Amino acid sequence: MGVTVVNHPLVQHKLTIMRSKETSTASFRRLLREISLLLCYEVTRDLELTTKTIETPMQEMEAPTLEGKKLVFASVLRAGNGLLDGMLDLVPAARVAHVGLYRDHDTLQAVEYFFKAPSDLENRLVIVVDPMLATANSAVAAIDKLKERGATNLRFVCLLAAPEGVERFTKAHPDVPVFTASIDEKLNEKGYIVPGLGDAGDRMYGTK
Ligand code: PRP
Ligand code: URA
Repeated sequence: MGVTVVNHPLVQHKLTIMRSKETSTASFRRLLREISLLLCYEVTRDLELTTKTIETPMQEMEAPTLEGKKLVFASVLRAGNGLLDGMLDLVPAARVAHVGLYRDHDTLQAVEYFFKAPSDLENRLVIVVDPMLATANSAVAAIDKLKERGATNLRFVCLLAAPEGVERFTKAHPDVPVFTASIDEKLNEKGYIVPGLGDAGDRMYGTK
């Protein structure tokens, strides 16, 4: 399955602006939305197509259309919503799951506070979105929960990953491909990605 680093120049350029501590909350949010469109393009690149008969103003044709049930975007709250919004612009018919998790600052364990998902996850591709894969505790917990509720076909999209998080995630869920814009250098002693971009949720929403 493995890890895909999306190194498209537009993604890398926008990511650099997001990383800068000078970037405002408004710009950070707008850039995350823009990057999410490009990441969505990559993660959906191999979706299966079928054809259906339509009539253009000129003639009938067999035209390509997405096959299968509507996909699900699963947003890991809060910061996942920064990726979700743009992805829904590209796939407006997608269903949405919300997984509320926060990282306990002392233990770095993920604590669940909310979960709501479509009931028929087993028949759908579930694309889990969260900008940060640090220790991977949150991503692993989100996917544990989605699998418990029936999901079998999953992908994970983030903006930044730490090598430690990639290792833990791919061991815990080897069946789930990861898409990221960067694998950074390491985690620091507080479990933050470095060089990273700081706390994604705080930068998106202006909290601290
Ligand atoms: C951040 C981020 C991930 C998690 C990553 O969320 O959005 O969910 O940390 O860290 P991990 O890989 O070590 O689990 P946070 O818990 O800060 O919540 P927030 O999105 O509500 O700010
Ligand atoms: N969560 C964040 O938002 N940033 C990090 O660097 C690590 C976890």
